Amino acid sequence: MISSAMEKALNDQINKELYSAYYYYAMAAYLDVEGFEGMANFMKAQAMEETAHAQKFYDYVNEQGGRVILEAIDKPPAEYDSPKHIFELGLEHEKFVTSRIHSLVSLALDEKDYATKQFLDWFVKEQVEEEATMDNILNKFKMIGSGGHGLYMLDAKLGERKPASSESDED
Ligand code: FEO
Repeated sequence: MISSAMEKALNDQINKELYSAYYYYAMAAYLDVEGFEGMANFMKAQAMEETAHAQKFYDYVNEQGGRVILEAIDKPPAEYDSPKHIFELGLEHEKFVTSRIHSLVSLALDEKDYATKQFLDWFVKEQVEEEATMDNILNKFKMIGSGGHGLYMLDAKLGERKPASSESDED
């Protein structure tokens, strides 16, 4: 069983993960219309991964006898300055999600809720990867500078990402 405070905090995280999916879809929509289909593909795969994260929290709340309550999802921005700007926002957003996961871990430890702490360990590790992925892509943007050829190559490279629905099932 989880406490009602933990149930509320986990439900809030479901909302944050679904907002993440929404945010990345909004970024994909901008990239698609600007002609960066590869980067749009990357963001769509990212959005699907976020939905899988939400599902993981959903299943855990149920497993622990809690009740999933879905709240409204905030509207993400529609306009962005450039593809690089999008990945800067992506990194910033992942850092925000990391801080939320760490707050959940702190709550679990305060409550001596070791089952939830163990459940959250997967997300702690996942967030290290999420931030590293965005950071690596940003480094590539810095290498490219304003060169159109480099941007074209990076778009093609990011277009290779496959939607990995099983990615978040790895324990
Ligand atoms: Fe679910 Fe990208 O954190």
